Amino acid sequence: MSKVTIIYWSGTGNTEVMAEAIASGVNEAGSTAEVVSVENASKDMVVKAKTIAFGCPSMGAEVLEEELMEPFIESLSDIDFSDKSVALFGSYDWGDGEWMRNWEEQMQGFGAKLIGSGLIIRLSPDASGVEQCKSLGSQLVKFNE
Ligand SMILES: Cc1cc2nc3c(=O)[nH]c(=O)nc-3n(C[C@H](O)[C@H](O)[C@H](O)COP(=O)(O)O)c2cc1C
Repeated sequence: MSKVTIIYWSGTGNTEVMAEAIASGVNEAGSTAEVVSVENASKDMVVKAKTIAFGCPSMGAEVLEEELMEPFIESLSDIDFSDKSVALFGSYDWGDGEWMRNWEEQMQGFGAKLIGSGLIIRLSPDASGVEQCKSLGSQLVKFNE
């Protein structure tokens, strides 16, 4: 079984906590997660993955982080997503999740099948947030089978 790939950007660590909790859920469900910060990620990792989770907090004014994550996501526009399942996640603070809605639309425009709605958590996940992340991780494993 191939690994579940989790690629994220996190400035102050909240989205990173989500990424690690999703990875725990993947591992607890009996699979293996590859957790990669976007600066160490490559387009090829996405091409090869069957099931991928991308994480990024709401930055700027309801946009993806612009130096690394946004260009990375834009670079994926010509990948064939038809046989891939994609989950999105990220932390936010004062907004209403607009960045995530726009990101979902962008990924659907690339032809990605999204696994539910993007998982958004305000600031750092509490115990229930961690459980939500783990549950997403176990869902990812089902899509990766
Ligand atoms: C420069 C900057 C811009 C931000 N813009 C937004 C925003 O538009 N909407 C929002 O809900 N939160 C915004 N936030 C809050 C972050 O999304 C929030 O602090 C989040 O937990 C950061 O996640 P991280 O720890 O993974 O970097 C912004 C934070 C920073 C530093």
